[in-house]
Amino acid sequence: MRFTVAIDGPAAAGKGTIGRAVAAKFGFGHLDTGLLYRAVGARMLAGEKAEDAARGLTPEDLGDPDALRTPDVAQAASKVAVIPQVRSHLLDFQRAFANRSGGAVLDGRDIGTVICPRAEVKLFVTASAEVRAQRRMDELAGRGLAANFAEVLADVKARDARDADRATAPMVAADDALVLDTSDMSIDEAVAAAVAAVEARKGA
Ligand code: CDP
Repeated sequence: MRFTVAIDGPAAAGKGTIGRAVAAKFGFGHLDTGLLYRAVGARMLAGEKAEDAARGLTPEDLGDPDALRTPDVAQAASKVAVIPQVRSHLLDFQRAFANRSGGAVLDGRDIGTVICPRAEVKLFVTASAEVRAQRRMDELAGRGLAANFAEVLADVKARDARDADRATAPMVAADDALVLDTSDMSIDEAVAAAVAAVEARKGA
């Protein structure tokens, strides 16, 4: 069975948490596509040309996800993500994952629009920039990383602007996506809404 759930949205909106919960609930695989861009960004910070890094990306580059989930790597990721050749090197891997049998959840920025335009379920998860910055602060604190709210908010806003304004695969809700504004929702409520959307489509 092929069944794809596409989850897009701006930085720190909770896509990963929702994606993991939906995947666990239905026994689907989950791919955080942001990690691919973060891994390319990390290799660029280490001195490699972004395009070469994307072409040569290996599973080992994703071996330590927490090392990639830092503000510096996030900024580098959104810079390499504007390069069309970087995006095209990462396309086949993402599409192959989406088509795996047993179902797949992918979260990112262009899953419902470019990677999987025929996904069975499309969600666009968002929240105010302030709420998202606070969630990222909490996540960093949970990993023992100190952060400054104003800096985290500025990072979130800078990446949103770069992601939404780029020419190739900009971040935008697909016409047929269900938009979930989670500003006033708990994570459990947001997960419940996403699960309900999948159940509605599976039963259809
Ligand atoms: O976790 P967070 O929402 O902060 O970011 P992420 O999903 O890990 O993505 C990091 C960066 O990768 C984003 O700011 C985008 O520039 C880029 N990205 C993208 O362009 N397309 C995707 N499908 C996923 C991420």
